[in-house]
Amino acid sequence: MHKVVWDMDPGIDDAVALILALRSPEVQILGITTVAGNARVEMTSANARRVLEHLNVDSIPVVMGAANPLNHPLEDALSYHGPDGLGNCNLPPPRMPLHPSKAWDFLARLVLDAPGEITLVATGSLTNVAHAFSLHPELPGLLAGLVLMGGAYGLTPYGTGNCTPHAEFNIWQDPEAAHMVFNSGADIFAVGLDVTMDPAACLNRGHLERINARHTPAAHLAAQLVEYEVKYQGCCRMHDPLALATLLDASLLDFALTKVEVVEGNGWDRGVTRVLPSDSSGLIHVACAVDGPRFLGLFLSRILEEQDG
Ligand code: RIB
Ligand code: CA
Repeated sequence: MHKVVWDMDPGIDDAVALILALRSPEVQILGITTVAGNARVEMTSANARRVLEHLNVDSIPVVMGAANPLNHPLEDALSYHGPDGLGNCNLPPPRMPLHPSKAWDFLARLVLDAPGEITLVATGSLTNVAHAFSLHPELPGLLAGLVLMGGAYGLTPYGTGNCTPHAEFNIWQDPEAAHMVFNSGADIFAVGLDVTMDPAACLNRGHLERINARHTPAAHLAAQLVEYEVKYQGCCRMHDPLALATLLDASLLDFALTKVEVVEGNGWDRGVTRVLPSDSSGLIHVACAVDGPRFLGLFLSRILEEQDG
């Protein structure tokens, strides 16, 4: 059982990953912090609560974080995720209140109270994580691990950019935060486009029909979220569910231990995650392969609440 605090920017795939997590006994979510990214932080904070309430989960605090990247204005992705950030799934506005803390204070408190026990999952830009690490430099070493969705490392043919031709959206959004986090000394497992853009790991219309045939609140919401992306993009990329899957079954992905440079600033190479010759220090685990069919089998078995596929 992984005790998890999850920083996210829901977003269709963050929400799909949250549904998966709530259907998976391998993870216990102690708290959700929200960051601006796919949408303004007020919307990502509402969306996290909307998903939890749809699934009748009222035990997980949702804590709002940064409204903007450290050094750049926010560039949202509502053109991809829909006007409500959740594929126009028409969930009602949230009723549960936000937790009163700031995300970075909440993250830090959880980890400081349980050194070595908490895994941080980050599926948005790394602004909140950078704030927490800046305020508490001891935090990276007190994490059980940091699993993040972000980057494009050129380790497979799919490892190129999705925000620019060279950079992945989460890292591009806040490259200064990513640069700081990647050099923090945390035990990082980075799941990037190299594996998440692999067609074998994406949901297609056939998968959607199976989800549509299952009449539960989880399957119904997952179907609505996936439907929007399949309709407008042709398939549903499982960026954030794949990051979470690292905690469900470590054998689903292979990781290379390597040094990574994050390019800061606002030039053509903003947010590029460049693999460097690896000396002995500052190495991170970067996903270099995925068993797409087995991942999708596990995902569907959890969402459809069938025996693990
Ligand atoms: O590049 C994909 C990532 O950016 C995903 O986490 C998606 O939700 C967006 O945050
Ligand atoms: Ca995300």
